[in-house]
Amino acid sequence: MIESRDFDFENRIVAPEVIKQDSIDDIDVGLRPKMLSEYIGQTKAKENLSIYIEAAKKRGDVLDHVLLYGPPGLGKTTLSTIIAHEMGTNIRTTSGPAIEKPGDLAALLTNLQDGDVLFIDEIHRLSRAVEEVLYPALEDYSLDIIVGKGPAARSIRIDLNKFTLVGATTRVGQLTAPLRDRFGVVLRLELYSKEELCDIIMRSSVILGIPCDKGGAMELASRSRGTPRIANRFLKRARDYAEVMGNGRLTRDIVKIALDRMEVDELGLDNLDRRFLKMIINGYNGGPVGLETLAAAIGEEAVTLEDVCEPYLLQLGFLARTKSGRCATDLAYNHLGITKQQSK
Ligand code: ADE
Repeated sequence: MIESRDFDFENRIVAPEVIKQDSIDDIDVGLRPKMLSEYIGQTKAKENLSIYIEAAKKRGDVLDHVLLYGPPGLGKTTLSTIIAHEMGTNIRTTSGPAIEKPGDLAALLTNLQDGDVLFIDEIHRLSRAVEEVLYPALEDYSLDIIVGKGPAARSIRIDLNKFTLVGATTRVGQLTAPLRDRFGVVLRLELYSKEELCDIIMRSSVILGIPCDKGGAMELASRSRGTPRIANRFLKRARDYAEVMGNGRLTRDIVKIALDRMEVDELGLDNLDRRFLKMIINGYNGGPVGLETLAAAIGEEAVTLEDVCEPYLLQLGFLARTKSGRCATDLAYNHLGITKQQSK
């Protein structure tokens, strides 16, 4: 496999976050499922959610506030739009860093209609001042606003329409306890199995009109590191190879060619993952080594490694996180074709 060090991180093909190459097609062409029945995988979260939704509808009440957490690219935004569809309400979408001042949040909240869903992505990035405004809004659908200054200042209470906050985060540990405690429903999203990703790819290929064999879909699924966003991105890129180098059909062979050329190996590891593991193995004798040290050694941010590389490497069993740092496992040595003696 070719190893390139001049690496375009913004367009990393296995990035689970949205990257430049991702079009808004996903929304326009309808790749994103609209109802729970169309949503593949996350069985536990889906089953629980469907009960809470049905119960809220039966009572004629709003759904309790929902916190979705887990690695990027697993469908937190999609689930929030599904919640709104299933409840028959509107959704307003924003993100933690976009709400700069308490007044920004107040403007959002006062514009919500009865039963609306407010989706806040990256909710762990809300400032404390904004969080303070959110608490009474979540608890009793009201806003406390201070009018005036000094001794003349007084607090007035504004009643809001009832709404459901859906918060999403990749870093649930960074949420303050008071905020976390105000979510009645907390759902953890897991990386998808190969079979689930294969079903998602087959569904997307039908919607996009891309002829795709089961073998092709399975090969794409095996390399998509448990993440639908990556699977759908690979599907579109592999189509380009199939149209130029084959007859347009996604067979296992053409998918292998496409992903090998994109330097994504048979388990979905890219150059960054391999450099990360090789640095632990060759630079630090297989570990343990601290994340910050590793990040500095390979010139990447620690949060990127933690959010983007580690969840999948941990799931593969290639990485162990110990109190004294990260260690590469025997499985990682085997996959990279390195014997333990060589690294000493
Ligand atoms: N597209 C992206 N994620 C999906 C999912 N979980 N189910 C169906 N289609 C999807």
